[in-house]
Amino acid sequence: MNTNLDDPVVRARMVPRTADVQRRHGDAGADAEASRVARIRELLVREDAVLVAHYYTDPALQVLAEETGGCVSDSLEMARFGNEHPASTLVVAGVRFMGETAKILNPEKRVLMPELEATCSLDIGCPADEFARFCDEHPERTVVVYANTSAAVKARADWVVTSSIALEVIEHLDAQGEKILWAPDRHLGRYIERETGADMIHWHGSCIVHDEFRAQELRRLRAVHPEAAVLAHPESPEEVLEMADVIGSTTQLIRGAQRLDNEAFIVATDRGIFHKMRHAAPGKRFIEAPTGGAGATCRSCAHCPWMAMNTLAGLEYCLETGANEIHVDEDIRVDAMQSLNRMLEFARAGGVRVHGTANA
Ligand code: 13P
Ligand code: SF4
Repeated sequence: MNTNLDDPVVRARMVPRTADVQRRHGDAGADAEASRVARIRELLVREDAVLVAHYYTDPALQVLAEETGGCVSDSLEMARFGNEHPASTLVVAGVRFMGETAKILNPEKRVLMPELEATCSLDIGCPADEFARFCDEHPERTVVVYANTSAAVKARADWVVTSSIALEVIEHLDAQGEKILWAPDRHLGRYIERETGADMIHWHGSCIVHDEFRAQELRRLRAVHPEAAVLAHPESPEEVLEMADVIGSTTQLIRGAQRLDNEAFIVATDRGIFHKMRHAAPGKRFIEAPTGGAGATCRSCAHCPWMAMNTLAGLEYCLETGANEIHVDEDIRVDAMQSLNRMLEFARAGGVRVHGTANA
């Protein structure tokens, strides 16, 4: 199957449109939303469940996760939190690989998701069979994959990493003289290669959201807001990263907004993060990094269409009915767990940076 999202026909077939998402879940009024939230609170207790949400999801889900003892975080912390929490059901509001990661690490727990079709362009663009052939062609290399991949791709890897720990893991492997096969995000891979000098070969995937940030437009925006620092996720193109004051995972970018003295920030990642950034750094201003060039109809389309599929309605539905449960084939799960556990053990041993990296 052709999964190349650079192809407009494939893209139109595979990427959900906002209108489709809204049609699917309806748009409740304020009263209906309040009673739905109340019902979800009851269901979380009834089902012995905890909500684990990503920063890119709807603020209503983020608020609910925090108010009910769940967590809102980046993909590494989501994995850690779900692994350590005693609840017997994890409800993962995010994209498919995040739910699968929770199940791989916690086979004894039930893992539900508000929306099973919420995937990721990096996952789509790295089919397990093609990836296995790529690995077979380079048996001398240590296989390191980004967490934004299917369980089967993780099972083929030696290590799984997220953006908050990728640099440290590759530095560690490089120091041991290992050569790396990296997949699937080309921008993150090249960034790690530049930073560490490691010997790496790459898969050519990309995130359809971050790939859209435009350096030329960013340069113009920075001229309009010279007081603003630039925060960028490493899935963004190289020329955008070159302009960034902080490069890091979503959590590291939020910490950057807290730590730097600037009063304003241009943010090159999904705009869902603004909810948490505004709370974490009150009084500071956050500006969306530009995606479209001159003449484009959308000046910043930076919102992941799959993250947007997570709604309160979907959350209530999965808790009420037990639908949308994540299952992972047991042989795949056991292999994938080993490469995920390597990352978690490395993090536990102190290998993860608190802050993102900075351009000089
Ligand atoms: P983080 O782990 O930095 O939250 O990234 C996940 C992701 O999908 C970014 O697009
Ligand atoms: Fe995947 Fe990009 Fe969406 Fe993150 S923002 S889940 S990398 S498509």
